[in-house]
Parts: sequence; structure tokens; C-alpha cells
Amino acid sequence: MPIPDGFVLGVATSAYQVEGAASTGGRGPSIWDTFTHVPGNTHDDVPGDRGSEAYARLDEDLGILADLGVDSYRFSISWSRLIPDGVGELNPEGVDYYNRLIDGLLALGISPNVTLYHWDLPQALEDRGGWANREVVEWFAAYARRAFELFGDRVPMWATLNEPIAIWVGYGLGFFAPGIADPKTGRQAMHHAMVAHGRAVQEFRASGATGSIGIVVDVWKRHSVAPTDENQVLADEGEDESFRFFFAELFAGGLSGRQVRLFGRSDTMPHIAPTDYEVAGTPIDFLGINVYGRVMVDSTNFNPYWWEQADTMPGGNFLSNGTELYPDALTEAVQTARSDYDVTVPIYITENGTPVDDGVVEDGVVHDDDRIKYMSAFLRRAIEAHDAGLGVEGYYAWTLLDNYEWTAAYSSRFGLVHVDTDGTFDRTYKMSAHWYRDVAHHRRLPVGDQ
Ligand code: BGC
Repeated sequence: MPIPDGFVLGVATSAYQVEGAASTGGRGPSIWDTFTHVPGNTHDDVPGDRGSEAYARLDEDLGILADLGVDSYRFSISWSRLIPDGVGELNPEGVDYYNRLIDGLLALGISPNVTLYHWDLPQALEDRGGWANREVVEWFAAYARRAFELFGDRVPMWATLNEPIAIWVGYGLGFFAPGIADPKTGRQAMHHAMVAHGRAVQEFRASGATGSIGIVVDVWKRHSVAPTDENQVLADEGEDESFRFFFAELFAGGLSGRQVRLFGRSDTMPHIAPTDYEVAGTPIDFLGINVYGRVMVDSTNFNPYWWEQADTMPGGNFLSNGTELYPDALTEAVQTARSDYDVTVPIYITENGTPVDDGVVEDGVVHDDDRIKYMSAFLRRAIEAHDAGLGVEGYYAWTLLDNYEWTAAYSSRFGLVHVDTDGTFDRTYKMSAHWYRDVAHHRRLPVGDQ
């Protein structure tokens, strides 16, 4: 199956997960530094200080990207590396690092796709209330403006936020940084994130930068195990609380009546200031969708923490890691954006991947057949969606390197390239890296793959 002309093949990472160098290079701490140093918060209490040591290995990783032959590299800026206190003084070493990364990519003909926020709020701003404090809207807008001024002449593609649902998980549930479990606060923080996003888009337009700007939302559609009214209600609630919250603010002029009633019942309806919906809905140039799978809903055995019950889901095709391979999730996510929200801008699949327990390096080879099977199936759906006129313009594999997988620390490996996180942090290609390299070089997805 040919990769269509102009269809972007990329790989993605995020700053906190790969950079390391947490307290060098003038970087200020983020909420994830604080959170991962609290005993009990992460797998084996391992903190994220080292990431994949990508800060120190910039040239080596650029070499890997060049060898893979990808069109684009999606990475995020660490806000507290650029502006250690979140507002105010720039860190010159941080500016230099991102300049070297961007210029290095451009010199290789790889297009930088920069996300401003992938979950790592400067701790100095958390100390002032973080995403729960309405002032975050202007803190974020000012940070975005600085980034556009510094890098906007060379970065063709920007995303404001990656998966804003993480703000709910951090402030509403307490499972992520900053570890606050207050649903009302969490919902308010989610809304602030949408307004902050809109303000950043306005700053982008005002900056005169010539690239495009969008946002990245993860879509986990809910499917009922059986067609009962109870299941349908749970499915609707699950979607309303997650991706539909963002889509409603971005594309539908505000939260739906059903959402207002739902949040009213749980007393978590956020306060919405008069022009908020207008700001949040500032037109964007593309939508990034992260897609990993679906959620099965069963009212007779309901667990709101659905990710804990992934391997008990009914359904089809399970990988050895216990997660279901359901590539139609991609098509359904795109169709939902197109038909339920009339999204007309191009859509990029900005993340897709699966963890494979592939720590063993045999004769220099890492076998991760399930990852190839999984990504082939999703990439095929992305191309089919493109060819069917659904406006899917690219696919980014999550992720380039084994990295710091948030609360799972190094116990969950999503990389195409293995990193020896127990010792040297050396990089070794997995079979999936060879596969992706072949796909990129030949601009062809081998047929017979799902
Ligand atoms: C996040 C990544 C994370 C990946 C795998 C995505 O939701 O954006 O940061 O590593 O999922 O869990």
C-alpha cells in the first residue's frame, strides 16, 4: 500500500519523557519533577530526572531521525526549560537547546512539529495555583508568545496542548501531577486549559508566524458491550467528560446541554466567563488526534478507571501486553470529529503506539512483533482515511525512544528504539524501528499487515 504523496510520516516524543537533565542547563522544576519524587507516585518510586537523556544526546538522536527517514519530528518544549519560573526571564541555555534541535532537524530536511505543553507545568506556577488559577490563561499566552517570537520563523507546525485530559487526571483525580483529587477543581482547570489554548492561538496569529497551529486531543470512543440504555448512558457520560469536553469548546461554541446537565448533577460545572467560549473556539489550522484504542462500557461491571480493566474487556484481538488491537478506533475518531463537530481542517494522527515488554536485547536485536502488527494496522487505517477523503494528512508513531512513561516510569516501553534505561541509556533499534524505516524509505506499507 503506497504512502500517499504529501502524507506526513513522523515520530513523536515529549519533553519530560525524553529530555532528562532535569536540574541542569538552567531548567526550572516542573510539576512532574515534584510529583515523581513523592514516594508511591511512580513505579518503583523511580523519578523522571533522566528521561531518555535526549538533552545530552541531541546529535545522536538527530542521527537516528535522519536514518529513519521520517518527514517530521513532533516534540514538546519544556516550559520551565525555556522560562524557569514560568513567567519572566528566559533561560538562554534552554533557548539554545531548542534552537539546536530545530535547526538540526531543518538541516536534515525533517519538519519540526512543536507542542507547547505536554503536561509539565512549571512548579513556580503550580505554587500559584497552576491550571486551577484563572491567571494561567495569560501565563500560557505569554509563554506561547515567547516561543513564537523565538522559533516561529522556523517551525511550520505548532500544537498548543497535548491531551488536555491529563489536566483532569492531575487536578480532578490526582493520579497525575500535581496530584490533586478534586473533581470541581479539575473540571475548572480543564476549562482554563481551553481558554489558554485559544489565547495562544490568538498570540500566534498576532505574531505573524507563517506556520499552522492546532491542538492535540486523545479520542477514546466508548463502546457498549451490549446495547442497553444503561450502557448507552455510561458511554455518553464517558465521552462527554473526556474528548467531547474539548471538542465542544473548540468546535461547537461551548459545552452541550447534556454536558451542562451532567456536570450540574455532580456539582462540577466550571465557571465560564462571558467571552470564554469565543476565545476557546478561535479557529485553528489542524486537529491532532492521538488514538490508541477504545473503551468498552459495561454497566453491570462498571469501573470508571477503565484503563485498569483493559485486559478484561470483551472484544477482539488482544496483544500479548493485554491491550486490544482495535484499529477502527482511528477511523471512528476521525469520523466523530468530522460528523459530530463539523471539523473541516486537516487531521493528523499525532500519536499511536503500544507498549511491548521488549527489554531483552538478543544479538543486538529487539523483537517487538506486536508493535509492528499494531502500528501497521493503524497506519493502514490512517492511509485509508486519507484516500477516502477524510482529510487525514499524517501519522506520528508514539514513540521514537523508550522513555519515561509517567507514573509507570520505565516499566512501560513504547519506543521504536530501545533505550537501556537500567544502565547506559544507549540506543538500539528494535525490529519496529527497522520496519518503520523501511516504510519511510520506500513510502510503502507492506500489504498483508492487518
Ligand atoms: C501521551 C504520552 C504517553 C502515551 C502512552 C499518550 O496519552 O500523550 O505522553 O506516553 O499516551 O501512554
